[in-house]
Amino acid sequence: METQQNDQQSDIGDVAAERVRIFDTTLRDGEQTPGFSMDRRAKLRMAQMLETLGVDVLEAGFPQASPDDFAAVAQIASTLRDATVCALARCQNGDIDSAGRALEQARRSRIHVFISTSPLHREHKLGMSRQQVLDAAVAAVERARGLCHEVEFSAEDAMRTEPEFLAEVFSAALAAGAGTLNAPDTVGYMTPAEIAERFTWLRANVKDAERVVFSSHCHNDLGLAVANSLAAVGAGARQVECTINGIGERAGNAALEEIVMALKVRGAYFGTDTRIDTRKLHPASRLLSQLTGQPVQRNKAIVGDNAFAHESGIHQHGMLKHRGTYEIMRPQDVGIAETKLVLGKHSGRAALRQRLQALGHVPDEAAMDDIFARFKALADKKREVHDEDLEALALGQDPEA
Ligand code: KIV
Ligand code: ZN
Repeated sequence: METQQNDQQSDIGDVAAERVRIFDTTLRDGEQTPGFSMDRRAKLRMAQMLETLGVDVLEAGFPQASPDDFAAVAQIASTLRDATVCALARCQNGDIDSAGRALEQARRSRIHVFISTSPLHREHKLGMSRQQVLDAAVAAVERARGLCHEVEFSAEDAMRTEPEFLAEVFSAALAAGAGTLNAPDTVGYMTPAEIAERFTWLRANVKDAERVVFSSHCHNDLGLAVANSLAAVGAGARQVECTINGIGERAGNAALEEIVMALKVRGAYFGTDTRIDTRKLHPASRLLSQLTGQPVQRNKAIVGDNAFAHESGIHQHGMLKHRGTYEIMRPQDVGIAETKLVLGKHSGRAALRQRLQALGHVPDEAAMDDIFARFKALADKKREVHDEDLEALALGQDPEA
């Protein structure tokens, strides 16, 4: 993988060399979104694809939400062999026991307990005091510990929580047995600089912080979920929670494929990477789109139809001389067969000549002048000029006849 010349390594101390774990929540936070629900068979199929992709932890659902969610989590737990299977639970006994039962057959299981910690949520959603929230968190982690291999604790709306209280809850959850502490930006409110500062502060102020993995979970309300997740990694988070195609509540979660490729392409800057098989990113994106019936926007980074397509003449000319001029990664690295040089009204002579040659036509300069003039006239009328059109132009015929 090529890197840019201005890479510099960030400075975050001991965790720098540790790999970033990818915690996929496509089937939980992603699936609980309008338009993205999947039946049990679809969820299992997606889970198998995510395992092939190499996600470290797969959040399969919220077993207490419905009998069907319970059954989907149980089926995924008994099928997967490599990824840790995770189930979500509120800090309530019924939820935790249900998650434990759904995960019984998992080769490696994790219960993910969460409770809101911010003043807004404490007052208006839970009607609980700080002490009540803290006690509920500790009791939940302790109960979950006996029902699975590992426990994750999330402080919902962590980023709008008083930092000192958040550190207190995290310290208590860690002492009670949580192995992962997740600090979600539940409403997508933060900026990258603020997130970096908060993770640095938490790592310095949570008691025994070096014994735990810090995790980021960013929502995309301001379009900053991926940037914020990467900022958290830069400040020492070693788990990132994300979804394929960035699906999730409201504007979505951080997009898995973008985070993974940013860490790969800019590996020298971050000083860390993931274990994802990046060649499976495009197939995973397409499978999700097929299972949910929701298309991926054309200009979506990494997996959109235009992610490796070039139309302007200047760009195409550059690409024909050296692909590094306008591409920072190879399409094959994300599972896309090849770069597309789309022929349209912005395209130039070099790309037209190259495509004609690929189709077996080698016009001399005079013929090329004529073909190029007729190509431009056609391109003004059509969005894209296809190979059949070029064949006609090369043979002196009218493609529109
Ligand atoms: O966004 C959020 O806070 C969540 C938690 C349940 C982790 O999805
Ligand atoms: Zn979320």
